[in-house]
Amino acid sequence: CDLTSTNTLALPSRAAWLLRAGTADEIVSGLRFAAARGWPVRVLGGGSNSLLPPSLPGLTIRPEIDGIAFDSGPDDGVEVEVGAGVSWHEFVTASVERGLWGVENLALIPGCTGAAPIQNIGAYGVELSDVLSWVEFIDRRDLSTHRVSAEACELGYRHSLFKGALADVAVITRLGLQLSRRATPRLDYGVLGERVSATPSVREIFEAVCAIRREKLPDPVTTPNAGSFFKNPVVDRAACDALLAETPDMPHYPLADGRAKLAAGWLIDQCGWKGARDGAFGVHDRQALVLVHFGGGTLAGLLAFAERIVVDVRQRFGVTLEREPGIAK
Ligand code: EPU
Repeated sequence: CDLTSTNTLALPSRAAWLLRAGTADEIVSGLRFAAARGWPVRVLGGGSNSLLPPSLPGLTIRPEIDGIAFDSGPDDGVEVEVGAGVSWHEFVTASVERGLWGVENLALIPGCTGAAPIQNIGAYGVELSDVLSWVEFIDRRDLSTHRVSAEACELGYRHSLFKGALADVAVITRLGLQLSRRATPRLDYGVLGERVSATPSVREIFEAVCAIRREKLPDPVTTPNAGSFFKNPVVDRAACDALLAETPDMPHYPLADGRAKLAAGWLIDQCGWKGARDGAFGVHDRQALVLVHFGGGTLAGLLAFAERIVVDVRQRFGVTLEREPGIAK
């Protein structure tokens, strides 16, 4: 089964077996089938945050569980239940159309809803952790089903329990989110506040976020990419101050624990990589954090290209960039 068109980087990849599972029961059956044969298993969502090797043995599961249910709660709260297979942007659009607040800053993030908690997706000052209530998943080890509260998901910057203790263990089937009918604009990140009126509607913010993303980020349909290829690195205060002494205009965001988050895109840009191309791969010309695939490349080529960037940034700034998307195994 050819997966080349179903990963947003368009890396050539073939799965021995692909299960498109419309229900949690189908996922359980697939896991049982693979276990009986000793096959390796992996789960693929929208393919926007996974790097695929040329061949994937055993079973690849794509959860396609559908459905969005809005349920008005007390006060202005609205509890929403979403199937893991629903496209994240489709869910955001449906929420904004109902005038609900909470996920408008997360518009246009590619991928499926089920993948959202894994790296705690975030953009423009909002993270999934701000609205997540619970996550339902199947434990691959014993096929049991669990519902865990957002607090138990250990959500951090591009991190969660599903990247930690439950990495390669949980198959997420459904999420619960808490949205609100009450206006709660979050406009403190970058240029967003300048792009909307003084008392913006939820739709206005949604449209501004879509416009900003379209200006900066390449559309995977025309320019294959996986969004941010690196995480923004976190360094201690002393390291940040030392860098600022050399380059006072370096973007940095102080964290509550005294450390500081740096902008990986800026570091890469400073090393002269923005817009650079080497064969099949390149660095996007409007956002240096995004690597793009021009066609004809493979995972090995992409990792070698990325490593050259990591080495340059380390030599120049003493900071080691970590990859953001995972490698499917
Ligand atoms: N910058 C540069 N050159 C570049 C890119 C960025 O100088 O080529 C500077 C910008 O001028 C700005 C700073 O770096 O001062 C930060 O840039 P930006 O606001 O564009 O955000 P980012 O830190 O590069 C993060 C997320 C994005 C998310 C944006 C907006 C990570 C790894 N990336 O990028 O997430 O959309 O903030 O909130 O945290 C993704 O995860 O796939 C993704 C696109």
